[in-house]
Amino acid sequence: MDEIKRIVEADQITPEEKLENTLRPQCLDDFIGQDKLKDNLKVFIEASKKRQEALDHCLFYAPPGLGKTTLAHIIAKEMGGNLRTTSGPVLERVGDLAAILTNLSEGDVFFIDEIHRMNHLVEESLYPVMEDFELDIIIGQGPSAKTIKLPVPRFTLVGATTRAGMLSGPLRDRFGIIEHLNFYDDNELMQIVRRSSSIIKVNIDDDGTVEIAKRSRGTPRIVNRLLRRVRDFAEIRTGGKINKQVAQEALAALGVDDKGLDKMDRLLLKTVIEKFNGGPVGVDTIAVAISEDSETVSDVYEPFLIQSGFIARTPRGRIVTELAYKHLGIELPKNSKQKDLL
Ligand SMILES: Nc1ncnc2c1ncn2[C@@H]1O[C@H](COP(=O)(O)OP(=O)(O)OP(=O)(O)O)[C@@H](O)[C@H]1O
Ligand SMILES: [Mg+2]
Repeated sequence: MDEIKRIVEADQITPEEKLENTLRPQCLDDFIGQDKLKDNLKVFIEASKKRQEALDHCLFYAPPGLGKTTLAHIIAKEMGGNLRTTSGPVLERVGDLAAILTNLSEGDVFFIDEIHRMNHLVEESLYPVMEDFELDIIIGQGPSAKTIKLPVPRFTLVGATTRAGMLSGPLRDRFGIIEHLNFYDDNELMQIVRRSSSIIKVNIDDDGTVEIAKRSRGTPRIVNRLLRRVRDFAEIRTGGKINKQVAQEALAALGVDDKGLDKMDRLLLKTVIEKFNGGPVGVDTIAVAISEDSETVSDVYEPFLIQSGFIARTPRGRIVTELAYKHLGIELPKNSKQKDLL
């Protein structure tokens, strides 16, 4: 995987991603797309402000780079509270959780990223906190152990996860607001290209905007990443102005094709076609074949490949569709059962 560095990877990886914070929308009105979710949130925020109560706990689930962290920031801002951020794997012990909770103030937002990766003891201790704003702490050991209840200020927990299916029922049920973020459509992606271009002060025309938008896998973080790379090319080739030609050249040089697929996506599709006759094949097997871990395959690569119709999920495993054969310029074998499997 290392030798094929993914330009369209939506995970936060490089220090360059610090720029992400500059590009992060600061309020709901700046947040492009996800209209239904935004409308709902606006109502919930307004209502809880009116009642002078903390907003209900929110759970956002979506593939990487679609705006979960951004929404946590926005909620804190709109509610006028501070944001405390941590992630599931970092909260190793109940003590880690207690340390954060006891430092919260009324109306703060406590954001737990990758909440599906929380240790189960920490998770269980979070239940009474979410419900009654009380943390049970056990003091001592054995028969003389005592539980004391520590009051916690009324705050809003915002959880983010790339896989809602991995969340336990009891945890999920304790969120009042559960929202899924969808991939963005071309029109929304174009608005994001324009917004980001004006923030980083780069000159881009309409055709250049379309070109970047349609190759961004429906993902704002990838819009921003491609935009910066294309800007580098434009600085050398066109004196800084992004047009269709320089965008196409830059993206071709980066190995991103006209559907937004990169080398890794194409390797995945090709592997399923060449080694497994197009499937059906299980995710774990695909992962081994391309030397990736299966969580990355199912959380990062697959959602977009499925959404754009290159892969289909069947009860017997993943299969590569006719569309993918066409896209890769590989002929579908005559006796292929691909169509019957769908
Ligand atoms: N709706 C949006 N409008 C404009 N820009 C957005 C939007 N959503 C996200 N972005 C941009 O994309 C970047 C990535 O978003 P964010 O960090 O919120 O993703 P995420 O869902 O938390 O990803 P991960 O799962 O990797 O943590 C942000 O810095 C922001 O600039
Ligand atoms: Mg995030």
